[in-house]
Amino acid sequence: MKIAIASDHAGYRLKTEVAALVKQLGHEVTDFGTHSEESVDYPDFAVKVARAVSQGESDRGILVCGTGLGMSIAANKVKGIRAVTCGDTFSARASREHNDANVLCLGARVTGSGLALDIVKTWLETEFLGGRHARRVQKISELESC
Ligand code: RB5
Repeated sequence: MKIAIASDHAGYRLKTEVAALVKQLGHEVTDFGTHSEESVDYPDFAVKVARAVSQGESDRGILVCGTGLGMSIAANKVKGIRAVTCGDTFSARASREHNDANVLCLGARVTGSGLALDIVKTWLETEFLGGRHARRVQKISELESC
């Protein structure tokens, strides 16, 4: 898959580890920055990944900030984005199977890198189940016009 990745300064180090894992798993990575620990504003990076996914340039996205929260709030403003913040593998799997999440957000100040990398692997390897879940995801899409 084509995976778009970005972080702010707080997520920079974990993003580097995530990018290496994603490549090792055989995916193509587009890294939208940031490229250092110098302070930046997370919405500027969330929108780059969200647009890449929304416009079909990337299949899915991964965003890293301090908590994973600001990134998901910002990414979810972009049409077609279903961004989730996950701190455990159960939620990561369910976010794919039930919610067809297309952007994963991680909190580098909350989740250690070992667990974060397990979350990424689980999330990338899990498929959407469709069926009754597709009906519910469609209802989420319809909320975009509210
Ligand atoms: C940056 O200090 C921090 O606010 C950011 O990384 C993130 O946690 C926001 O949600």
